[in-house]
Amino acid sequence: MTNHLIGLLLGTEEDWPAAFEAVLKAAGPITAMDGEVHSYDVERMTIEPFDLRARPRQDLVIDRLAYWYYHPREWLKKAALTHDVYLLNSPFTFQSMEKHAAYCAMIRLGLNVPDTVLVPFKNPPDHAKYAYTAERYNRPFDLDAIADELGYPLFMKPYDGGAWVGVSEIRDRHDLHRAYDESGQRLMHLQKAVADYDVFARSLSIGPETLVMKFDPSQPMHGRYAVEHGFLDAGTGLEVTSIGRVVNAFFRWEFNSCETLVKDGVVYPIDYANACPDVAVTSLHYYFPWAIQALVSWAIFCTASGRTPRYDLNTRAYFDVADDPELSYGEKLAAYGTLADEYFESERYAEFCGFSLSHLPEVVVGWIEGPEFDRLLVDTVRSTFPPHEHEQFVAHYRGLLSAWARDQRAST
Ligand SMILES: Nc1ncnc2c1ncn2[C@@H]1O[C@H](COP(=O)(O)OP(=O)(O)O)[C@@H](O)[C@H]1O
Ligand SMILES: [Mg+2]
Repeated sequence: MTNHLIGLLLGTEEDWPAAFEAVLKAAGPITAMDGEVHSYDVERMTIEPFDLRARPRQDLVIDRLAYWYYHPREWLKKAALTHDVYLLNSPFTFQSMEKHAAYCAMIRLGLNVPDTVLVPFKNPPDHAKYAYTAERYNRPFDLDAIADELGYPLFMKPYDGGAWVGVSEIRDRHDLHRAYDESGQRLMHLQKAVADYDVFARSLSIGPETLVMKFDPSQPMHGRYAVEHGFLDAGTGLEVTSIGRVVNAFFRWEFNSCETLVKDGVVYPIDYANACPDVAVTSLHYYFPWAIQALVSWAIFCTASGRTPRYDLNTRAYFDVADDPELSYGEKLAAYGTLADEYFESERYAEFCGFSLSHLPEVVVGWIEGPEFDRLLVDTVRSTFPPHEHEQFVAHYRGLLSAWARDQRAST
């Protein structure tokens, strides 16, 4: 029997970590395909001084903190470099390759990123040498001309993005100057809007698994993900899924969410670097069990199947496909898809799930229908909504989650 410790590096969340701990425990010891039995403990990690040579106790860490805090980020890098600790997102690329780098990579791969321009800071950094540099080398530029060239409406948003902070829709010159003046020391993209799109598809990826959901950003949080299937035709659905998997494999991101706008059959990727994707039960509702099951499966596969972390990139292999003039867009996507499957070991993962985790779907349904999940749901609603809305939202989420459980039972 091999025992594994899974570490969770958490911020304010309670819901999915509690679900993850409970489902992993309920899954019991796992027999891998070589007959070896693996058991699991989960631990919420604390932040403290660490010796660079100390051996981490964790085999795998799911991180929700490092994007914002240097200390856990540096712990993760150390753990990856010195002891091969498995991390779902590469801390190396998530530090250096935020939204801007993802756009650049996708443009190189031939995807339909809307036209985007990076403009210099409104207020330059506070640095003694900056004034001299700016005086000599900063070229004055015409913001209006850039916006006119892109065409209105457009979006101004931080080059590194996150949680809609600093994002504004720009309809005219007045909006443009107000938003730029307000941007201060944040570095901004101007991006052509995909106006009047047909579908906003938001996908959540965990390892090789991707779930595409219909999203409505104009709704309050609890109503953004629609419970709707078949809202994309088969070809477009496959394209959206492939784009997510390709970007993730390209950067070694295994827990990420991706946003695409679909208009007149064209898929426009707009946001593909979310180091800490939303998995709250109050926003995912019906899809929450899918996320927990995928996280548990992938964490088990990564620790029990002999998979080793690969933080090194194979950018060149993607670029060789991108640069091949003989290949159409569809052929390129398919070729990237093959590279992504190799990275994720999709086939071996599917085999592993069939052999070692065939009981997991039933475990998840049982847990979602049980009293422990109901308590978690009620507690989460109480800590998320004002008191007068508790009753309404408890009923709302109970309805959605029991519909999910019913749908699972009907399909098996
Ligand atoms: N090019 C665009 N066309 C249409 N809507 C956009 C575009 N870019 C951003 N948006 C809207 O703004 C929201 C936030 O932008 P996004 O790039 O996702 O930033 P963040 O990283 O903060 O989530 C998107 O969810 C979408 O509703
Ligand atoms: Mg976004």
